[in-house]
Amino acid sequence: MHSVNKVEENIKKIAELFPNTLTEVVKGYREDGSAIIEYAIDFEVLQQELSEIVVEGSEERYQFTWPDKKKSILLANAPIAKTLRPIREESESFEDTQNLYIEGDNLEVLKLMQETYLGKIQMIYIDPPYNTGNDFVYEDDFAKDTDEYLSNSGQYDELGNRLVQNLESNGRFHTDWLNMMYTRLKLSKDLLSDDGLIFISIGDEEVDNLRKICDEIFGEANFRNQIIVRRGTKSVQAQFDTWDKLGQGVEYLLLYTKNANYRFPKQLKPLEEKREGTWNNHWRGTDRPTMRYPLFGIIPESGQWRWGKERSEKAIENYNRMLKEVGETEESVKPEQIDQWLVNQKEEVDLLRLSKNGKPEHYIPPTNVTLLNSSWTDLLVGSSSEITRLFGTKIFDNPKLTSVIIRMLNFVGKNATVLDFFSGSATTAHAVMQLNAVDGGNRKFIMVQLPEEIAEKSEARKSGYKNICEIGKERIRRAGKKIIEENPKVKDRLDIGFRVLKVDTTNMQDVYYNPADYKQDMLAELEDNIKSDRTSEDLLFQIMLDLGVLLSSKIEELIIEGKKVFNVADGYLMACFDNNVNSNVITEIAKKQPYYAVFRDSSLANDSVVTNFEQIFETYSPTTVRKVL
Ligand SMILES: C[S@@+](CC[C@H](N)C(=O)[O-])C[C@H]1O[C@@H](n2cnc3c(N)ncnc32)[C@H](O)[C@@H]1O
Repeated sequence: MHSVNKVEENIKKIAELFPNTLTEVVKGYREDGSAIIEYAIDFEVLQQELSEIVVEGSEERYQFTWPDKKKSILLANAPIAKTLRPIREESESFEDTQNLYIEGDNLEVLKLMQETYLGKIQMIYIDPPYNTGNDFVYEDDFAKDTDEYLSNSGQYDELGNRLVQNLESNGRFHTDWLNMMYTRLKLSKDLLSDDGLIFISIGDEEVDNLRKICDEIFGEANFRNQIIVRRGTKSVQAQFDTWDKLGQGVEYLLLYTKNANYRFPKQLKPLEEKREGTWNNHWRGTDRPTMRYPLFGIIPESGQWRWGKERSEKAIENYNRMLKEVGETEESVKPEQIDQWLVNQKEEVDLLRLSKNGKPEHYIPPTNVTLLNSSWTDLLVGSSSEITRLFGTKIFDNPKLTSVIIRMLNFVGKNATVLDFFSGSATTAHAVMQLNAVDGGNRKFIMVQLPEEIAEKSEARKSGYKNICEIGKERIRRAGKKIIEENPKVKDRLDIGFRVLKVDTTNMQDVYYNPADYKQDMLAELEDNIKSDRTSEDLLFQIMLDLGVLLSSKIEELIIEGKKVFNVADGYLMACFDNNVNSNVITEIAKKQPYYAVFRDSSLANDSVVTNFEQIFETYSPTTVRKVL
């Protein structure tokens, strides 16, 4: 009869917000010497979550750690001065599509997506480098990134310079990989919706480390399964009489959810061979006295009947009706007749009878599916066959197969937004389009990929592809075209387009100086606060990112008194970045009553327009949120 333990409750609340702060401590010892363990908040980790500098400390406690772990929390939380620029020429159906292809380092992309896609992604699938000893791992430069954040300079290395081969002989072999993954997973968690989930492909090399960091980031209660999937084995050891280990015949898919109480729909998988219908004993050993009722005059002494009374009685009725309708007796009815009768029923029907040896038994109809469990060895996880068929040559090493991703897609709804931020050859996009074509779904994809340069002598290079993004985009084009050819009926509804966006430095001029440091002769350079190579569409996308407007939103271009006005998401956001915008244009925009109206500082024609600006909105649309860049 204690009152609520507030501390316990508070620990729970903090752990929900920051699962990585939950730890176990020794509270005391029992008489037998065993330790009494209880949950506690690791204040140091919490302090790190709330701090912009690295917090020192070294007390012993239950934790999984590695060098620079605290810095990677810092890095995940630090803002960046970057933006996403739309590239129309490389997009497909730019106007109508809801899919995105984003080029850049996924750490930056995930940061840029935080505002707009917070809680909006139903499924993430990633297939990161497995850390096999030959992989290229993107080395985040902590010092540089933190400096960058402080100076807001937005300038650093050319892409590609920080992709380093992570060799096993490197003293930081696991460390570098963990730092790379930890920051990205941490950021990705916030993008998941309440009913969202994440699947992560991984091999023997890092599966244990990955599980530990995922337990921390998503919370142990959100761990669902460590699924095994079959992989093609290489027989390099076949020539030797002794081996150092067996070939890896399987790899893993870790499944985590955003919320511990979320339940996904029942999952089935096809059986290799159709299972015949069978009669099954209706009694079972689990002890539920309320389920012991008379059936054919029999009341079990222990155990229970499998179904409740009502369902069982209805099933007996169905059985008798079936015999009558097929015109047979219990002795003469053939299994095929029962199955055919069942197929003809409008809904699922149970059958129950008394067996020849006097026991109630129910019918299990023939089936070609069975319940899915965590062994997916019926599927081969990866092979280049699929992409080679599309390109006519082996263009990408180790792509996954669409069949595996399609199975994962069935865990989420038909309108899900699916994110893959290690997208490689864009198999995930292919799987999304394929499944939409077959089941009428409207899933949308967001692919993220670093424009990693392709090796000089490779097949892909010979075919003219310079970086992996070029392969990814072309894969989506070719796969989309093929899917339409194979399913001509879906031509008008299937979204096989994508908007291409690239990470770039901010559109705004860099501001290096404190106001006190400005000199008269600098003023000329500062006339325009926007970089000269940026288009109005660049500004529009930056605004969409800042205001949390989906980057796949419909964008319409209107011309009002000769000025280009963007109408985003059917009047939700209206923006004009042209020069010499006069009061009439502003009035026309205000009359459309957008939620947001955005202009450029230099675009307002003259001082009187600036003065009238607020007045016009107060008159026509006082609730519109107005912004001037
Ligand atoms: C194993 S592959 C994924 C293959 C993909 N599942 C497929 O079926 O084609 C991993 C991909 O992640 C990319 N990658 C590695 N580090 C990245 C980063 N920091 N940002 C974005 N992409 C990255 C690599 O270029 C590589 O293409």
